[in-house]
Amino acid sequence: MQFSRLVALPLLAVALAAFAFQSYAADSPREHLSLDANWKFHLGDNWPNALRLDKAGASGGPAGEKFSDAGWRTLNLPHDWAIELPFDEKADTSHGFKPVGPGYPENSLGWYRRAFALPQEDAGKRIWLTFDGVFRDTTVWVNGWLVKRHEGGYYPFREDITDIVHFGGGNVISLRVDATKFEGWFYEGAGIYRHVWLDKTAPLAIAPDGIFVWSKFAQNTPKGSPEIHVEARLLNSLTNSAKATVRCEIISPAGKRVTKFSVSKNVADQSQRVVKLESKVSAPVLWSPESPQLYKLITTVEADGKVVDQQETEFGIRTVGFDVTNGFLLNGKHYELYGTCNHQDMAGVGAALPDALQSFRVAKLKEFGCNAIRTSHNPPTPELLDACDRLGMLIMDESRLLGSDSENLWKWDDQVRRDRNHPSVAIWSVCNEEPQEYSPAGGHVGASMQRLVKALDPTRPVTAAEDVGDVYPGLMGSLEVRGWNYHVGQDMDNYHAKHPNQPNVGTEQASAVSTRGIYADDPARGYVTSYDDRELSWASSTERWWSYFAERPWLSGGFVWTGFDYRGEPTPYAWPCVNSHFGILDTCGFPKENFYYYQSWWTTNVVLHLFPHWNWPGKEGQDIRVEALSNCKQVELFLNGESLGKQTMKANSHLTWHVKYAPGTLSAKGFDGAGNLISETKVETTGDASAIRLVPDRSTINANGEDVSVFTVAAVDNQGRSVPVAQNKIAFALEGPGKILGVGNGDPSCHEPDTYVVNPALRTIAVNNWRWKRGGVPDAGAAAPEYAGEFDDSSWNSITPRTGGASMFLNPGETAFYRAHVNVSAGDLANPDALVHFPQIDDHGWIYVNGQRAGESHDWSAAPEFDIKKLLHAGDNVIAVGVKNDDGPGGLNPEVNLEIAFPPAASAWSRSLFNGLAQVIVQSSRDTGEIKLTASAAGLQPAAATVNTVSGGLRPSVP
Ligand code: GAL
Repeated sequence: MQFSRLVALPLLAVALAAFAFQSYAADSPREHLSLDANWKFHLGDNWPNALRLDKAGASGGPAGEKFSDAGWRTLNLPHDWAIELPFDEKADTSHGFKPVGPGYPENSLGWYRRAFALPQEDAGKRIWLTFDGVFRDTTVWVNGWLVKRHEGGYYPFREDITDIVHFGGGNVISLRVDATKFEGWFYEGAGIYRHVWLDKTAPLAIAPDGIFVWSKFAQNTPKGSPEIHVEARLLNSLTNSAKATVRCEIISPAGKRVTKFSVSKNVADQSQRVVKLESKVSAPVLWSPESPQLYKLITTVEADGKVVDQQETEFGIRTVGFDVTNGFLLNGKHYELYGTCNHQDMAGVGAALPDALQSFRVAKLKEFGCNAIRTSHNPPTPELLDACDRLGMLIMDESRLLGSDSENLWKWDDQVRRDRNHPSVAIWSVCNEEPQEYSPAGGHVGASMQRLVKALDPTRPVTAAEDVGDVYPGLMGSLEVRGWNYHVGQDMDNYHAKHPNQPNVGTEQASAVSTRGIYADDPARGYVTSYDDRELSWASSTERWWSYFAERPWLSGGFVWTGFDYRGEPTPYAWPCVNSHFGILDTCGFPKENFYYYQSWWTTNVVLHLFPHWNWPGKEGQDIRVEALSNCKQVELFLNGESLGKQTMKANSHLTWHVKYAPGTLSAKGFDGAGNLISETKVETTGDASAIRLVPDRSTINANGEDVSVFTVAAVDNQGRSVPVAQNKIAFALEGPGKILGVGNGDPSCHEPDTYVVNPALRTIAVNNWRWKRGGVPDAGAAAPEYAGEFDDSSWNSITPRTGGASMFLNPGETAFYRAHVNVSAGDLANPDALVHFPQIDDHGWIYVNGQRAGESHDWSAAPEFDIKKLLHAGDNVIAVGVKNDDGPGGLNPEVNLEIAFPPAASAWSRSLFNGLAQVIVQSSRDTGEIKLTASAAGLQPAAATVNTVSGGLRPSVP
């Protein structure tokens, strides 16, 4: 199945060029180039007729080659335009009240364009264009040719565009992105929110995602030397068969070559072939979250004695399995899954996360002991998996939908092929909470998806996130591993007793809600208490789910809903609350109180944490509930040095005291089982905020235009102590080779912008009072006196534009001249661009400004634009258009505008602190140097902090 789809386009190309000579691009092995930089973006769709299905390669407007996008905004990917929109109370609650999607057509369609050149030397190579994910439905053109219509936001898609690119010339990619429909029920973003790649390969090469490497130990238990299996899928686009030699080398985590092996096979013309190889690695170093050791496979393909392709694939040697009694097994031993479910969404950036933020988030999760992520409810971006491979984090890799229709199976096939080399990926999940999970059909479909996994990946089990209790028929009985969303309690024990041969995993648990720094529900402001006592009808408190699972190793552990707060699903509230409360961390990654519960029971660190904060003016003498989250055996609490008693901690529990509030110091001592003091902590009443503190998480980053440093902003008192209740509004300014990418504060009800977008400002001048004269337009736009600025058109008829409609007067075969005057000032001309925009020129048009040729148009549906700044002068100007009509009524729609683009005004960034904290994400440019971020606020001493950007990490990219 995969075969025919992948080769469809190359085969067509080869068939068309059947008589052309083709050779190996022997000296030019693969180039894998980033296409993230320098896109042009326009929000809105002014070109509803751009897509043409009547004629090939003829799409109009921005889909065409000639279109001028000079007035569009320039940006780098990844990009999420939903984050840039203001909040709107009428918008969808579960998507976080952003005015995008159903009901907001004006904000839900966007266009992107990217020009790129290909050198003449690339002729003969195959050129592939890959999108890692675009939200949501996407139409892609290259040089005016339609190359892809892709539905769905989360799956990657690619095309071989060799046939239609210009070698030795300029090319343009155009995308129309349609986010008018949702997929999920959570914030999903909008736009090209993952990477884009251009790959160049020889005509005989490794197919896309064509390498699969996996290890196998006898009995799936790491003992002795594992077999290493490599499958290399070769793609021969040549018109002749080729003998290919595939050479593999394996490099150990220490950088030593440990084995090499090779095989030679014929690959028939215009086809694919999977070449299988096998070797062994002795004394392997195993991968685990605690020790994420990566091997590297280098696959080289040779033909006719020349290297035609080479690719490096990182992989890990490890085993995974699920056991009915011992639950999840990693490297042959019980391994409790301390998991969290997460959406791709973060403060400041929305769904468009630079790679550095993937690592930032994985590291934050590891701080409280999380060792597994479920990519709920969709395929992840590959860079999340890279970060998990490198930093040590297991993955439950989930599909978007349950479905065995060919479209869904293609997508699932792509996902499994793309992700199966990652050692972090431990299990596949075919879906989440599908209403069909009870039905026989649901069971059949799940089984089909499971069968496809088994054909592609012999190493990993399959589950689904199922939200039913003690129910077996349907999906639950069809998959290897029973997944449990919620239903903590008797249901699980009953099911396990009835189906003792099926392993289990807690795919989604808890859904405990809390707001950072809040200790009492506040429905008006949309805040939830941090004490772990609130249970939603389907959910469990943190302690209830975890203490149940901790006693049942056969459940394998589970995945908390969620690691991070995310936009949307503001349960248990609605407006003004715009973010979820489920996170162990807030949207910035600042810990909430539950963080310390998990850290106590999921790590081996000594943990002793007290809450709440101790700033309660006006509550003197009143009872405050104080809790200790700790793994110490005993904890003693003190207020201002006086003991309030020592208590013994039960495993997976917490301790509570009721304390009469007095300002000062609340402190605790933690003891081990032998009574030794092993930890101390304190919470102090602080003074008022007097200064700002600014701390970057990394003080050196790569000058690659992608890397980021995440600054924590805090308010401190005059003794330098963080003020946990500070809510000051802080203004930020940046100097040096970088920019502020986004800001956040974790407040689920904050409506301040996360990003301050720099859009080119436009002044629109209507070009009115058109006069026209039938006939006499010379062919091919040749010069005519009627185009001259000074030509006297006073005897011509005038045209009055009709609102909402074109004025089309020409009969088939007729021509006409059109002329209009427009006045511009010297100030207008001091700006970067002046674009003349025509709503319709039907069918051919030649455009002159003050007697000089500005361009031409041959597509009645194109709504063309031309940059005419160089042809204008201050004062009166004449725009003249010669039009020739082919068929039907034709002519010029005179609702023409001149758009003057102003340099964007520098934006003033700010964010309020939420309970003492805010965050600023700063991104490097490609220049090295020092970035200085300053923060100021009324009444507080300002702060400044610097980050150095050094050369490195620059990926090969399309200029
Ligand atoms: C689950 C669902 C999640 C989220 C959660 C909130 O049922 O799978 O996506 O909506 O509920 O508790």
